[in-house]
Amino acid sequence: MSYFFAKLLFLNCHKCNKSLLLLFLLFFFFSLWHHLAQGLPKLPLPDLKDTLDMYLRCMKHLLTEEQFNKTQNVVKQFGAPGGVGELLQSKLVERREKKANWVYEYWLNDMYLNNRLALPVNSSPAMVFPQQHFRAPIDSLRFAAHLISGVLEYKTLLDARALPVDYARGQLAGTPLCMEQYYRLFTSYRLPGPERDTLVAQESSVMPEPEHIIVACKNQFFVLDVVINFRRLNERDLLTQLDKIVKMADSEEERLPPIGLLTSDGRTEWAESRKSTNRDSLDMIERCLCLVCLDDASGHDLSDTARALRMLHGGGLAKNGGNRWYDKPMQFVVGADGCCGVVCEHSPFEGIVLVPSKLVRAASVSELPAPRRLRWKCTPEIHKLLSSSAEKLQRLVRNLDMHVHKFHDYGKEFIKQQKMSPDAYIQVALQLAYYRCHGRPVSTYESASIRRFQEGRVDNIRSATPEALAFVKAMTDGKLSTKKMEMLYNAITAQTKYTILAITGMAIDNHLLGLRDIAHELKMEKPDLFKDEAYFISNQFILSTSQVPTTVEMFCCYGPVVPNGYGACYNPQSDHIIFSVSSFHESPQTCSSEFIKALEQGLRDMRDLCNYRKSTCSLSKQRKDRTLETHTQTDSNWQSQTQQTAADLTNSQQPLPQVLVKTSDQNKTEAQSQASKQGRH
Ligand code: COA
Repeated sequence: MSYFFAKLLFLNCHKCNKSLLLLFLLFFFFSLWHHLAQGLPKLPLPDLKDTLDMYLRCMKHLLTEEQFNKTQNVVKQFGAPGGVGELLQSKLVERREKKANWVYEYWLNDMYLNNRLALPVNSSPAMVFPQQHFRAPIDSLRFAAHLISGVLEYKTLLDARALPVDYARGQLAGTPLCMEQYYRLFTSYRLPGPERDTLVAQESSVMPEPEHIIVACKNQFFVLDVVINFRRLNERDLLTQLDKIVKMADSEEERLPPIGLLTSDGRTEWAESRKSTNRDSLDMIERCLCLVCLDDASGHDLSDTARALRMLHGGGLAKNGGNRWYDKPMQFVVGADGCCGVVCEHSPFEGIVLVPSKLVRAASVSELPAPRRLRWKCTPEIHKLLSSSAEKLQRLVRNLDMHVHKFHDYGKEFIKQQKMSPDAYIQVALQLAYYRCHGRPVSTYESASIRRFQEGRVDNIRSATPEALAFVKAMTDGKLSTKKMEMLYNAITAQTKYTILAITGMAIDNHLLGLRDIAHELKMEKPDLFKDEAYFISNQFILSTSQVPTTVEMFCCYGPVVPNGYGACYNPQSDHIIFSVSSFHESPQTCSSEFIKALEQGLRDMRDLCNYRKSTCSLSKQRKDRTLETHTQTDSNWQSQTQQTAADLTNSQQPLPQVLVKTSDQNKTEAQSQASKQGRH
């Protein structure tokens, strides 16, 4: 029974009100029914042969011939009848029977908890809110109070497990989605460990526990109780409390070291230094609903790029880098200069956007106790650890090359008009941009939601398809041709097919991971497949991409996942697309602004190609109409008339009519014959 019900019962039992009890029971059964009715299917387990075949298909063009030949043999051996692959597959079948989601733990450990890298930039994405225009310092506190108030209202819904179920949009729209990750938003904590972190979930308590949030201000951490006398604070009371916190933080004599910096360090380092910090203070942070970071203004640049940088790393110790606690899933940042957003610890959930708009209308609490400052030891050892963490964070600050760009030429409506999936189209554009910058294709990750299944998180759409490579290779000059259009069409079709494979739980990355990790669990020697160089290459996601659409004007951003890679997040809107591209300055190979330039040019070239097709199609239609007209006039005239039309078109250098949406063989023949006639290839 949920925490909320326990609380409701506790609050009302003294009244012994029968109708309330009835209401409570009704609510309880409704919620239970709602939960059971969701009854999502279990994540399927793909066929071993399908996955191995697809693995070879995905890797062939990313490897040298020698590497590929070796991989082919390794795969053959692995998948041989009676071989190790079959054994591992049968163990996964058993695992699937027992678990709600056979890959969930493997995936969580592999994707997040085993990763030793620092959370800022490397792991935690951020949502950047629209720039706020605060005229006085109190305005930023009002904004923070409003935000907290919304969080509390949302938390009430979560406690009641009363969130309406999400339904899929876009590809395969209409199916219900797993809601579990919402319920982890305010109850989880990523505990650092020496080798692996743990995702701790707060247990619901039967007795209502006073809820609190942590407010960070000038690198100090304050406990702000949001439930006092069994009432959640209203916005006015929250503002009063925030004002007190700001005053307490201003007192220089009481200032404590910026302990939050330790959470920005590598996970193993933080696990170690955590032992030297105060248990009680840590406990308060681990059990809070979320953090609200009241940041100082830092610099005049309030561009999208500057704000994204500030969200991702806080600007290092000299700015707001110590005003964070990275282990907590939700850190709302409210900058005095209107730079606001939310930094998310990624392990409990995917880019779910939380921008509560409604206000809590609660009565004022007459006596508001003062918020409490968290205490920290200030030993020489702590100071040493802090300066080491500060130095590493500073390196990340210097290293991150971020570029946020709004592409205004067109948005997803134009792409839909071409009868193409906007997501697939943008992915192909990203492949084109990478190829134009670096002259080769690379392993690409696109997150695909598998929330159609119980406890579903994501799998990978391997966007560097052979069809995308054929297209980007053809796009070496600005000339338009039906052949290129056909290649674009093929690339988008391949991408869309892979997307459907992934969102229906049939992609290969989770499956391969399952096979690898179950072998480890069985204490078997690591199969050659996972020691092969190709497997390593396949997991070096030089392009790490993700679509995070929003309904309000904000955007998501994150860092690259490998030192020589790009993070590319995009937000397709009706008439524009927002891109946040990141890379590292330390890599001599990458440059975010060059990538954006290539992306923009590529998107324009792709639009021109689509318009070219449209013009050729409309010419084709005109020709057809004229043909019909002539046909009704006189049958004998028909052949010469159409021949003349075609000759006229050729002479005037107009593109020839072309119909691309046919069978692929028809397409190929037509495109080739037309292309050779135009002499463009
Ligand atoms: N012709 C015309 N319209 C088309 C079309 C076509 N051939 N194909 C798709 N569309 C339309 C869709 O109907 C949809 O319309 P809508 O805007 O009215 O809903 C729209 O185009 C978008 O569809 P599409 O671009 O194909 O993408 P999608 O919305 O299905 O998204 C994924 C694809 C992979 C991004 C999505 O399935 C997913 O998994 N999202 C989660 C990603 C994630 O986890 N991100 C966070 C990581 S932290």
